[in-house]
Amino acid sequence: MQHNKVLILDFGSQYTQLIARRVRELNIYCEIHPFNKIPSDSDSFKAVILSGSPNSVRGEEVLHPDLSNIRGKKPMLAVCYGAQYLAHFSGGKVAESNTREYGRANLSFIKAGEDFFTGISKGSQVWMSHSDTIKQLPTNGVLLASTHDVENAAFKIENETTYAIQFHPEVYHSTDGKQLLENFLVHIAQVEQDWTPDSFVEETVEALKVQLGNDKVVLGLSGGVDSSVAAILLHKAIGKNLYCIFVNNGLLRKNEYVSVLEQYEGMGLNVKGVDASARFLDALEGISDPEQKRKAIGRVFIEVFDDEANEIEDVKWLAQGTIYPDVIESVSATGGPSATIKSHHNVGGLPDYMKLKIVEPLKALFKDEVRRVGASMGMDKTILGRHPFPGPGLAIRILGDLTREKVRILQEVDAVFIDNLKSWNLYDKVWQAGAMLLPVNSVGVMGDERTYEKCVALRAVESTDGMTADWVNLPYEFLQKTSNEIINKVKGVNRVVYDISSKPPATIEWE
Ligand code: XMP
Repeated sequence: MQHNKVLILDFGSQYTQLIARRVRELNIYCEIHPFNKIPSDSDSFKAVILSGSPNSVRGEEVLHPDLSNIRGKKPMLAVCYGAQYLAHFSGGKVAESNTREYGRANLSFIKAGEDFFTGISKGSQVWMSHSDTIKQLPTNGVLLASTHDVENAAFKIENETTYAIQFHPEVYHSTDGKQLLENFLVHIAQVEQDWTPDSFVEETVEALKVQLGNDKVVLGLSGGVDSSVAAILLHKAIGKNLYCIFVNNGLLRKNEYVSVLEQYEGMGLNVKGVDASARFLDALEGISDPEQKRKAIGRVFIEVFDDEANEIEDVKWLAQGTIYPDVIESVSATGGPSATIKSHHNVGGLPDYMKLKIVEPLKALFKDEVRRVGASMGMDKTILGRHPFPGPGLAIRILGDLTREKVRILQEVDAVFIDNLKSWNLYDKVWQAGAMLLPVNSVGVMGDERTYEKCVALRAVESTDGMTADWVNLPYEFLQKTSNEIINKVKGVNRVVYDISSKPPATIEWE
């Protein structure tokens, strides 16, 4: 089945991914492409959205693609820079604005009877973020809306399904932004809302069957959401030809290796658990630098994975849980040919001699869509709602050098913290949580005895993507009980502190 799809041309705005998110929330499939790389099959797109940009149409580096094959032929919505682009190159006028036009504004005028504004009333809040302003509409431009400071806040082109807005409908602060996108995409451009988790699963499984045939595929499971959902999709398509490998690096949470393995087996996956703890812990001996730890863990992982993959006779493919934000090719701020592609390898890059072809069934999905797809396949909430956990595991939460005893202590501390979060119903309110073992001994008194033992820091953050984060205001009673329990239960710890730093300037992990 061929989906209705929408093309988003990226002019480098920080909000371009948000446009895609909002469109997907309407159950409409969309793709982001750089403004200077319009896909050759642009005919197959039902509508086009032009993004904003940090550039100016009046500047030296004007981003000026030839849209003559699209404009007037496909429904088009131009946002911010897109709107200025339409005005500037089609007989209108764009100039520097006299007043700052950032942040909240309200629509003070809306042209009556326009489908574009169905369900949106005068006074609706919109989000502005621009330093140029449209002084004069382009040829055949019809004014649709204004704010107090911006007269030409929205316009259309007569006899075309071309619409332009100066504000950002994709930002949550634009209260009716989603309604406006729906008005344009569903009612004006008549794009069908046919992109749902169920349809994604159905089509992806069919496509994987064709792509993989009878080939064998190997996949490294991490216990996290992405690799688990990728595994279940592949399992639906090729069954026992999917070989999953779950490596215990000795740096997982307490009991995690056994419980995750059991969970996977319960889902019918062909999964092999490999307990390589000793190999990892031996390789880490004497290393205290965080980057060196990461390198050592990455190297041993590849060796272990390679050994195991070699055991699978005639394996042809390596499956990865790569998701859309990792593969979007976004234009640089200057929009020049220096466009960068972020690449991401869940297994840290395998040696070339393995010559495996790569299959990435989730590469069109955002993180929340991965969860929705998992849920539509009936996957357990304990997997889909699991907090992110770093690949190097507890190694980067034990500051400085690492010993088996330190891993044991931290596993115990972490287990008390996480179990308490669950029993207090706080686990799902927190994006990520864990404990850090500090390279600090402090004096304490237990019974009548002086102690000189370790200090641990607890960290719980809220975030949407890990790029920025804030500490969670956990109840004092919770912290009190958890601290008592840790100090009473975990031998070797006599002090607990709670980390109240945001990211930036701190990071989530301490190493
Ligand atoms: P930071 O500490 O950079 O962490 O604020 C952001 C997110 O990334 C995770 N993280 C890692 N994940 N390998 C991983 O797979 C790593 O080396 C690594 N370092 C940090 C961290 O847990 C958080 O979710």
